[in-house]
Amino acid sequence: MSQAKKLYIKTYGCQMNVYDSERMAEALGASGYVTTDCADDADMILLNTCHIREKAAEKVYSELGRFKTLKAANPDLRIGVAGCVAQAEGAEIMRRQPLVDLVVGPQTYHRLPAMEAAVRAGARPVDTDFPEEDKFDHLPRGPRAKRGPAAFLTVQEGCDKFCAFCVVPYTRGAEVSRPAARLVAEARDLVDRGVREITLLGQNVNAYHGAGPTGGDWSLARLIDALAEIDGLARIRFTTSHPNDMREDLIAAFADQPKLMPYLHLPVQSGSDRILKRMNRKHSAESYLALIARLRAARPDLMLSGDFIVGFPGETDADFDDTMALVRSVGYGQAYSFKYSARPGTPAAERKDMIADDVASARLARLQALLSDQQRAAQAAMVGRTVSVLFEKPGRLPGQMVGKSEYLHAVHVTDPRAAPGTIARVRIVSSGPNSLAGELA
Ligand code: SAH
Ligand code: SF4
Ligand code: F3S
Repeated sequence: MSQAKKLYIKTYGCQMNVYDSERMAEALGASGYVTTDCADDADMILLNTCHIREKAAEKVYSELGRFKTLKAANPDLRIGVAGCVAQAEGAEIMRRQPLVDLVVGPQTYHRLPAMEAAVRAGARPVDTDFPEEDKFDHLPRGPRAKRGPAAFLTVQEGCDKFCAFCVVPYTRGAEVSRPAARLVAEARDLVDRGVREITLLGQNVNAYHGAGPTGGDWSLARLIDALAEIDGLARIRFTTSHPNDMREDLIAAFADQPKLMPYLHLPVQSGSDRILKRMNRKHSAESYLALIARLRAARPDLMLSGDFIVGFPGETDADFDDTMALVRSVGYGQAYSFKYSARPGTPAAERKDMIADDVASARLARLQALLSDQQRAAQAAMVGRTVSVLFEKPGRLPGQMVGKSEYLHAVHVTDPRAAPGTIARVRIVSSGPNSLAGELA
């Protein structure tokens, strides 16, 4: 029997890429590959890349450069680029970095086994199709190995929103929802393998409208209700949502569905209506705040998270002040903020009214200071409260276990009864920079 070949996958970007990397590992598992955590002894290296900002995309080339010595030491080493940079740049990647053997986009990685065979036969395949077939129908079923307590499940892919700054509609293609019955089956399988919490993924997850088992489309709320019926599945989350797709039934689910966790990532990008319009967001600051109010009416303890872009072309000090005001009025538990990065092929990249980098940096620093104050305050407010924690893995200290609260805070507990996969009531005793510490209640 030949020895298993080793596959090293490095994942950049969003959670959907994390999910895709697992699927790619399974696909190549069928070709005799087992994954390794170390690039040095790999037979194949795959970079699953992100194109969202220039920095993320450029990282790929510096990473590839570092593999030169590995390839010199092992001429049989194969190097592949997958994900959103692969989709956006295609064969150009091989021109810029000749040591790349294969390029595969996010919608065709079910073809990886054939591509890998082609590489061994001396070809340098590039596949960035948006194929007719659904890749998920063509992926081999993974080894039914035991899983950690928390897992991702992609339910929807792509985006039709075309925010003026964003590459996702181009790198991931049009919005597609997976059929509900498939997702319920996949979720059941995950639960059988030890999963207790599932995060449903999609670039526009709340736009989910997958075919129901008996005809008619299911909304995300309906899918969540069906998943909630799976015994052993304790928690459901979903990400990322667009404000305009937050339907009534999904808002109600935060009140009515006990397995749906009280945490919502709801990006708004800016607090200025002028900028939101230029961003093609199709909502206003006021409609976003009204939506937050409805969500909080359904679930008063809902923890909110968001994404912000500062320095979008034409953003004035007054526009930025509107963003700061919106953040103050919402009060986020945690949030991501970025300096605008002009992306080739997007409408915003054509704009001439670019903001000076030092101005954008100063705004980003102010916004991030406010957001971290809010994060600290939200964490501090947990001290003395009792939360429910799903333990996931050992922490850095001896005997320590880390889990997540219903509000997605990382919680450390040092207690032999805190076993991975169990859910316990934990009294929070202190708050650190990025986590909480507590005792079993
Ligand atoms: N589909 C999700 C997230 C898309 S990408 C959504 O619509 O919310 C994640 C975040 O990256 C975005 O929410 C946005 O804040 C940021 N982002 C996207 N394009 C960007 C760009 N060109 N420059 C800076 N940040 C960007
Ligand atoms: Fe990008 Fe906008 Fe689609 Fe989100 S909704 S993926 S920001 S185009
Ligand atoms: Fe990046 Fe692609 Fe996700 S561009 S954020 S990896 S969809």
